[in-house]
Amino acid sequence: MDINSKLIKALHSRTDEYLSGTEIAVELGVSRTAVWKHIEQIRSVGYEIEAVPHLGYRLVKIPDKLLPDEIERGLKTSVIGKKILVYEKCSSTSDVAEEIARSGGKEGTVIFAEHQTNGRGRLGRKWISYKGKDILCSVILRPYMTPQNSSLITIIAAASVCEVLREFGILAGIKWPNDIVVKGRKIGGILTEINTEMDRINYVILGIGLNVNSSLKNLSSKVVKTATSMIHETENKVDRIETVRKLLKFMDHKYEELKRGKYSEIMRECIDFSETLGRVVKIRSGKKVYAGYAQDFDDSGALNLRKDDGAVEKVVSGELI
Ligand code: BTN
Repeated sequence: MDINSKLIKALHSRTDEYLSGTEIAVELGVSRTAVWKHIEQIRSVGYEIEAVPHLGYRLVKIPDKLLPDEIERGLKTSVIGKKILVYEKCSSTSDVAEEIARSGGKEGTVIFAEHQTNGRGRLGRKWISYKGKDILCSVILRPYMTPQNSSLITIIAAASVCEVLREFGILAGIKWPNDIVVKGRKIGGILTEINTEMDRINYVILGIGLNVNSSLKNLSSKVVKTATSMIHETENKVDRIETVRKLLKFMDHKYEELKRGKYSEIMRECIDFSETLGRVVKIRSGKKVYAGYAQDFDDSGALNLRKDDGAVEKVVSGELI
């Protein structure tokens, strides 16, 4: 842990009292002059620190930034978020994660960005978000499973996002296969990209985009009718750090279940959150269009569609039209 991280940790340990310069100096193993220098450094990141002569320093406010120190504080996950990287700006967190994964990056590494210049959605679409407002992240996973079961990864991510949203009082659901929706409007999306070797998954880049504090005013008139955000739903500014920490915890728990082969449990949760089941739907999958009653999911995450003639057809991926 570097000195600034240690300082942040020390300040967090006592926010209702002042920490004297001497106490901090001892804790950090530096001189009192160095303490002041490090206080200035963390202030420049956006931490509000009150300094009172003869009393010391007190943390007043943390910045609205996705800082690794804040995300990691007290985060007790076993895999997801073991390593956290935050970029002020990058093309896409999934591009960065891909590069890291290709050179051996560890499972559970999460890459966040405050701003993406080339955010990607499914089917070659763009993912638009506003600087410093939302959650944009990609997780490196190395599950021991066949590519046929990779939809389960999308499902655990989508279900985790729904759980987080419900903790904020937002009743979100999953629109098959990867949209998170609230009253029909999209609030988030999952982009699962897999790298395979023979018939095994080598690594997965799990990209998650969640509209948190972006106001609908910022969205184009076309998007505004179909999109929403947490701030719009709750009418309150949302703490992104708290949201991220909840998200990592839910994902970690569900990923553990997945690794233990608890596919039916995972599917049950997905069914609970599904906004697609029980409806007559039309799905475009490649050049084919499927139509039928969305009956249920199988244990690999494929959708079983019952057609008019009673036959059941499996649809592994696609888009509702
Ligand atoms: C979709 O709904 O089509 C999926 C959207 C996924 C967006 C996220 S934002 C973080 C990560 N980086 C990207 O470029 N895309 C994913």
